[in-house]
Amino acid sequence: MAKPTLHCLLITIFFVITVISISSPFSFASQPFKSSRAPRFPKKFSHQTRSLQQQYRYDTRYFSQRLDHFSFADHPSFSQRYLINTEHWVGPNRFGPIFLYCGNEGDIEWFADNSGFVWELAPRFGAMVLFPEHRYYGESVPYGSQEEAYKNATTLSYLTAEQALADFAVLITDLKRNLSAEACPVVLFGGSYGGMLAAWMRLKYPHIAIGALASSAPILQFEDIVPKETFYNIVSNDFKRESTSCFIAIKESWGELLSVGLKENGLIELTKTFRLCRDLKKTEDLADWLDSAYSYLAMVDYPYPSEFMMPLPGYPIREVCKKVDSGPEGISILERIFQGISVYYNYTGKVDCFELDDDPHGLDGWNWQACTEMVMPMSSDRDASMYPPYDYNYSSFEEECWRDFKVIPRPQWITTQFGGHDIKSVLKLFGSNIIFSNGLLDPWSGGSVLQNVSETIVALVTEEGAHHIDLRPSTSEDPDWLKEQRATEIKLIEGWLSSYYQEKKATFNM
Ligand SMILES: *[C@@H]1O[C@H](CO)[C@@H](O)[C@H](O)[C@H]1NC(C)=O
Ligand SMILES: *[C@@H]1O[C@H](CO)[C@@H](O)[C@H](O)[C@H]1NC(C)=O
Ligand SMILES: *[C@@H]1O[C@H](CO)[C@@H](O)[C@H](O)[C@H]1NC(C)=O
Ligand SMILES: *[C@@H]1O[C@H](CO)[C@@H](O)[C@H](O)[C@H]1NC(C)=O
Ligand SMILES: *[C@@H]1O[C@H](CO)[C@@H](O)[C@H](O)[C@H]1NC(C)=O
Repeated sequence: MAKPTLHCLLITIFFVITVISISSPFSFASQPFKSSRAPRFPKKFSHQTRSLQQQYRYDTRYFSQRLDHFSFADHPSFSQRYLINTEHWVGPNRFGPIFLYCGNEGDIEWFADNSGFVWELAPRFGAMVLFPEHRYYGESVPYGSQEEAYKNATTLSYLTAEQALADFAVLITDLKRNLSAEACPVVLFGGSYGGMLAAWMRLKYPHIAIGALASSAPILQFEDIVPKETFYNIVSNDFKRESTSCFIAIKESWGELLSVGLKENGLIELTKTFRLCRDLKKTEDLADWLDSAYSYLAMVDYPYPSEFMMPLPGYPIREVCKKVDSGPEGISILERIFQGISVYYNYTGKVDCFELDDDPHGLDGWNWQACTEMVMPMSSDRDASMYPPYDYNYSSFEEECWRDFKVIPRPQWITTQFGGHDIKSVLKLFGSNIIFSNGLLDPWSGGSVLQNVSETIVALVTEEGAHHIDLRPSTSEDPDWLKEQRATEIKLIEGWLSSYYQEKKATFNM
């Protein structure tokens, strides 16, 4: 990097720090790193190659969709990809069920590969399996190309949860007609944002789906429904429960990072300590890289080795903390953090150096959704959180959204459209057949439904579970609590289906 620019950056950072430290002399900085963006759901990283062999068998098909389901304007249509498997389906004459996974914000093949539970259930229920892709992701992009579709706020404006749900509804209706399967019951599945879609679809389209398994679906992470500190407190507690000293080391590391970054040649020192591929341009980039690793670690703190986001050992946070806690006498705090974080970023031992820009901001589908409907306010608590303290600031969030997309968020739209406030009594009085499953290690569990609402709207909560672990394929290492959770889910789904068939019989006999 050219010298003058580096110099300017240093001065800028120094200026910011000076101002901050004047206002709060004891804590190193009040809000040194956090951007106003909420953390993301797990996603496929660009460097992650799919397993050479496709895990599950399916056909890939395309269906022509309206760009805007909610107007009669003459827009071009787009092609929605969907994956389908009918090999176990008992067919329309026997009312074979249809298992529909609500595609999330990404390539649908990745979600299909990582939702083994749905595939394992299909033979048992004689079900068809469908994985429709979410619009604007993977291959289901309107306007002919990703570049055109993501061009500006006008072209992106059809990227909403409501449009995605309408896509699913139109697709399944058309497919049923093609297969003369109108009377076949549809059961929805989804994890994470896909789980939110599954729950919302059951509520909005009760005539299209008889029930939904919504795994790790934070449908309450909006407005002030849950405390803003919930997410980061859960991540922090996941570390603290493994080791208090690990929690403290991480909590203290931000100040250390900041002060090293400010030293002469400090950015070069950090580049070396963290073995980065490129010269660090600002300390904040490194902080973001650490920050997202901790959040993702909490999401995938599974009890057995997994490769959902990264190849990782079982209970990876335990392994990270072992490294953070162990280092030889005299080793610096940042060196210990580096050892710990390597468990996440370099478990295979095959990484030569670390690239920080794996999760770039900017024109990205989820960032757009977060800047329009999916406004999830989050703060970092001064004491309970191991992250730098941060108070959610809607104004600065709005400014970022305007800067990136020329759009103004609508933070109250999701709760207006789908509800969320006083969810227990609302759903008790009208809803049915939804399972909200959550693992309490998962930071998103804090924004989900953790209490039973009624006989048929059920919360399945596991102490030791992480992000939609129940949707993952079964393994020989599955702990008993996970087997029990899945068994309960199967029983509930069986119940939905048998009520449906009983009703049908009654209707047919009339
Ligand atoms: C966005 O791009 C489209 C296609 O190029 C153009 O027609 C439209 O006017 C642009 N909208 C804005 C707000 O810039
Ligand atoms: C139903 O059949 C029509 C006519 O072949 C086809 O265009 C359409 O894509 C099919 N629907 C689905 C969901 O595959
Ligand atoms: C990744 O791990 C291997 C094996 O421990 C080590 O040789 C390598 O230097 C590590 N890479 C980085 C960037 O630290
Ligand atoms: C929130 O952000 C706005 C816009 O960036 C800023 O003017 C304001 O001072 C911030 N408020 C607080 C309490 O930090
Ligand atoms: C909700 O009810 C189910 C039985 O339908 C039970 O297995 C589960 O433990 C209950 N959940 C909570 C959070 O109490």
